[in-house]
Amino acid sequence: MNVLVTGGSGYIGSHTCLELLNQGHTVVAVDNLCNSSRLALDRVEQLTGKTIPFYQQDVRDEEKLSQVFAQHPIDCVIHFAGLKAVGESVSKPLAYYSNNLDSTLVLCKVMNAHGVKRLVFSSSATVYSGDNAMPLQENSKIGNCSNPYGWTKYMCEQILRDIAKADPEWSVIQLRYFNPVGAHESGLIGEDPKDIPNNLMPYISQTAIGRREQLSIFGGDYPTHDGTGVRDYIHVVDLARGHVSALDYLMNHTGEEIFNLGTGHGYSVLDMVNAFQQANHVIVPHCITDRRPGDLPTCYADPEKSREMLGWTATHDLDAMCRDTWRWQSQNPNGYEA
Ligand code: NAD
Ligand code: WQD
Repeated sequence: MNVLVTGGSGYIGSHTCLELLNQGHTVVAVDNLCNSSRLALDRVEQLTGKTIPFYQQDVRDEEKLSQVFAQHPIDCVIHFAGLKAVGESVSKPLAYYSNNLDSTLVLCKVMNAHGVKRLVFSSSATVYSGDNAMPLQENSKIGNCSNPYGWTKYMCEQILRDIAKADPEWSVIQLRYFNPVGAHESGLIGEDPKDIPNNLMPYISQTAIGRREQLSIFGGDYPTHDGTGVRDYIHVVDLARGHVSALDYLMNHTGEEIFNLGTGHGYSVLDMVNAFQQANHVIVPHCITDRRPGDLPTCYADPEKSREMLGWTATHDLDAMCRDTWRWQSQNPNGYEA
């Protein structure tokens, strides 16, 4: 299939482009590089020996996006493009609503105009309401989001649900990711946060390499096995393969489906620090500080629906997540722009 990937040079996008090419699909990528580097896709080309037509443009530029569809016979779209920093979304809500909602609206409008009606959307476990029992199932309660970023995902899901309901030719898959970590085993592509990392794993690896002094563990008094927060960390290559499985499903079904992409296992912050130190024989200086506002004690997926309907399960364990993160970090201590 010929797949248009928005946000293709980003962390999850670049890994997904690689898996798509490895599975025999062709890829066209659009990204405005507001949070990524062109080098990511150069490296995907290097790893696969294949070429990715790349358009550096904003998905919200309707005319330019339409030209991409006119130039390439696109079969389906994976929509990664979006802003994703939770804290920043609280201070810049307009930027988040504008970017994440407008890009989705413009994309769907252009897809409709070109008769392309198959879409995989990057949603997030953040759409689940905080008062659910664990593990989270696709029909668990959504809403009560604690930040504008979460609301943008919630609203985009609703927009896509309505589009699929109104036109029976549309096929939409909403993938709710849990906590993506790790990097491709080559160490050539990985996560490259532009500023101080918000997420745990890049903070751990930047601390191990000496870019950060120490990791602050947000809260040591949660009702978990060691008092620190528990999450469902999933290797980015497993996540990328989940998208390839979703495309296979998309081609044979219409309507809207939602799938969790997680492992079903929860690890605490201290579990992650210990696993990282052991896997890589490094020290991660850390201390326990106050809880971070808005954090839940525990969050993990029930991945059964994805296993049953997509035939997908995560195969990389915590050790692989830690080793692959460190290979990427140590080979690229300052990310792509070394
Ligand atoms: P990322 O920032 O690495 O990738 C997003 C890409 O989109 C970037 O390359 C950025 O330059 C691009 N982009 C943003 N706005 C754009 C626009 N208007 N036009 C064109 N390009 C634009 O983030 P990621 O971690 O790869 O996340 C990909 C998607 O998955 C995002 O939608 C994110 O919200 C979602 N998601 C991420 C996580 C996570 O923890 N990483 C979890 C759940 C969901
Ligand atoms: C994980 C655990 C922290 C940093 C976020 C978004 C969510 C989704 C994934 C996009 C928590 C603890 C973290 C640190 C710490 N993204 N932590 N010290 O909050 O589960 O989810 O990313 O959709 O929407 O909210 O991930 O990596 O920030 O935190 O102790 O410096 O690590 O408290 O328990 P989170 P995270």
